[in-house]
Amino acid sequence: MSDFLDLCARRQSCRNFSGKPVEREKLTKCLEAARLAPSGCNSQPWSFVAVNDPKIVPQVAKCGQPMNINGFLDKAGAFIVVLEEHGVLMPALRKMLDSQIFAKGDLGAAVEHICLEATDLNLGTCIIGLYDRETIAKLLEIPQEKQFAGLIAVGYPASEDIRPKDRKPLDQIVRYV
Ligand SMILES: Cc1cc2nc3c(=O)[nH]c(=O)nc-3n(C[C@H](O)[C@H](O)[C@H](O)COP(=O)(O)O)c2cc1C
Repeated sequence: MSDFLDLCARRQSCRNFSGKPVEREKLTKCLEAARLAPSGCNSQPWSFVAVNDPKIVPQVAKCGQPMNINGFLDKAGAFIVVLEEHGVLMPALRKMLDSQIFAKGDLGAAVEHICLEATDLNLGTCIIGLYDRETIAKLLEIPQEKQFAGLIAVGYPASEDIRPKDRKPLDQIVRYV
């Protein structure tokens, strides 16, 4: 595997997919990376729906284009829907803690594991924030009451160019004591 910081720098939001389908084995590796993510009390409050059926992928792509944004999704090869599940807590903790207390952070970690593994496999990803949740749920037979935690477009990038990162400098965001 490449140097980890290099992998972090190469992970970028891909808005230029080639349209090539994504092999199921590669999606499975991304999902295995998600499975290995840390979670509060190891509660693992997640499940995933991987979409790579060529008939369904374009329909999910349309759901990620509200107000005509995200047109690049038409060339994504696959999608991963991340769902929030009930966290499983040990009985002693269940009395003290809400099962979902750490869920948001846990799901964020799982999403980023997916994106980093995809990068390591030379796949591009783009996390999509706005989408038609209701239509995706119908399309993928997800119960309407289920909480969505994210939609990730996955595909082969049309170009290997890596953009420089636009980030706040470390000295603005870190304080050592
Ligand atoms: C929760 C979330 C929602 C996002 N939604 C979109 C989106 O709908 N369309 C898009 O092009 N990028 C989307 N992005 C990507 C961000 O714009 C991107 O991560 C940020 O600008 C940093 O760039 P980088 O990912 O290339 O490093 C989203 C990212 C996150 C984490």
